[in-house]
Amino acid sequence: MPTDVRAESRRNFLRFLAQSPLLYGVGGALAATAARAQDDAFLSGALKFTDLITSPNQALNVWDFEPVIRSRINAGHYAYLAQGSDDFGTMAANRAGYSKLGLRPRRLVDVGTVDLSVEVFGQRLNSPIFLCPVGAQFMFHEEGEVAVARAAQTKNALQVLSTVANLSIEDVAAARQGPGWLQLYSLSDWPSIEHMLKRAEDAGTTAVAWTVDIPLRNLEPIARFNREGDENCQSCHAEMPDAFSMRRMFDGIDMTKVRMGMTGHSWASVDRLKRVTKMKVLLKGIQTREDAALCLEHGVDGILVSNHGGRADETLRGTIECLPEVVEAVGGRIPVFVDGGIRRGTDIFKALALGATAVGIGRPYIWGLGAFGQPGVERVLDILTRELRIVMTQMGASKVADISRGSIQPL
Ligand code: FNR
Repeated sequence: MPTDVRAESRRNFLRFLAQSPLLYGVGGALAATAARAQDDAFLSGALKFTDLITSPNQALNVWDFEPVIRSRINAGHYAYLAQGSDDFGTMAANRAGYSKLGLRPRRLVDVGTVDLSVEVFGQRLNSPIFLCPVGAQFMFHEEGEVAVARAAQTKNALQVLSTVANLSIEDVAAARQGPGWLQLYSLSDWPSIEHMLKRAEDAGTTAVAWTVDIPLRNLEPIARFNREGDENCQSCHAEMPDAFSMRRMFDGIDMTKVRMGMTGHSWASVDRLKRVTKMKVLLKGIQTREDAALCLEHGVDGILVSNHGGRADETLRGTIECLPEVVEAVGGRIPVFVDGGIRRGTDIFKALALGATAVGIGRPYIWGLGAFGQPGVERVLDILTRELRIVMTQMGASKVADISRGSIQPL
C-alpha cells in the first residue's frame, strides 16, 4: 500500500479509536502499557517515555514491542490484532486473573542450575512457552509465519500454525526444520480436512489442535471499523475477493465446499477427527470440567484451555481461572495447556503451578514479529524465558516439576 494511503488509513483509524466507546478497553490497556513503559524507562534510565525501541535488544519486557508494531502496521490490521469481543471483558479477565494469585517462595533450595525444559508428546522443548496459532501473519510482517518458524527453530520452541496462515504447511515446516503443530478451524468438508491432515503429517506435524471456541462471535471493533467505511482498506481487500482460496495453505482444496463457521459440530466430529489422523488430537478452547471429562471420554490427547485471547465469547472468566477445574477433571491423564494474557515469567510460573504442561502466547510474539521480524519473536521468547528463570530461582524451583500448587496462593 502506498505510504500516503497508509497514513490516511491510520488517520481514519485514530479518528475511529477516538470516537469508539467500545475501544475504551483497549485504550485503557494502551494507557496502562504506556504507564508501564514509562516506569521501566524511568527506572532503567535507558529510554525516554516517548522513544520507541529501535532494536529487539532494547526491549525490557514484552510490552516494549507493542507501540513499535502499532507504529508500523496498517491501522485496520492493528484493530484486528488488538480487539477483544464485546467490551473486552474476557480479554481483561485474562490479565486480571494472574494478579489474583500470589507466590510462595521457598528458601535455601539449591537453585545453582535451573532447568526450564519440558517434554510435550515426546518432544523436549527449551522452555514451557509455545507460540499460539495466529492467522494471516503477512498482516504483521512480510515474512509472516516463516519468520516465526525460524525463531521457533532457533529457540527450540513449539510453533502452532493457524489454518488461516498466509503461507502453507510445507513452507513453514521447511523453515522450521523440525516438528510443529497445526491448528484447524472448520471440519465442514471431510475430504478437504483429510487432505490437509495428510499434508500436515507428510510435513512432519505431530499434533493437530481443533479450535472449538468460536461457534459465533461479536467483534464490534472490526465491524465498526468497516462501518466507518475506510475506503482505503476496502479497496485493498477488494483486490482479493477469494483471499482464502488463494492462500497456499489451501492448495489442492476446493474452498467452495469449506464453511469457515464452527456451528453444526458435536463430539461425533471429535471421534471422526481421531479416526482420520495419526497425529495427536487436541481441543483448543475448552474451559469447563464438563467438557474436560468429555475430552477424556472421546480419546482427545491434550486440552488447550483458551478463550481465543478474549476474542471469542464474553465469559468474563480468565483462562487461569478456568485452568484448575480442567486440570482436576483430567487428573493427569492427558496434558493440559493454557493461553491468554500471559505476559510475564510470573504468569507462566502460576500457570505451571496450577497444572499446565506448557503455556501459549499469542499477541506478545506478534508484537515482536511486527516490530522486528524473526529477531523480534526471538527476543520475546528470550525475555519470557529469562523472567521465568528469575522467578523459578526466587521461588526455589530448580526444574519445572518442582513448581506445584504449593508454590502459589489465591489472594
Ligand atoms: C488469534 N488466535 C487464533 N486462534 C486460533 O486457534 N486460530 C487462529 O487463526 C487464531 N488467530 C488469531 C489472530 C490474532 C490476531 C490473535 C490475537 C489471536 C488466538 C490465539 O491462538 C491465542 O489463543 C491467543 O492469542 C492467546 O491470548 P494472548 O496471548 O493473545 O493474550
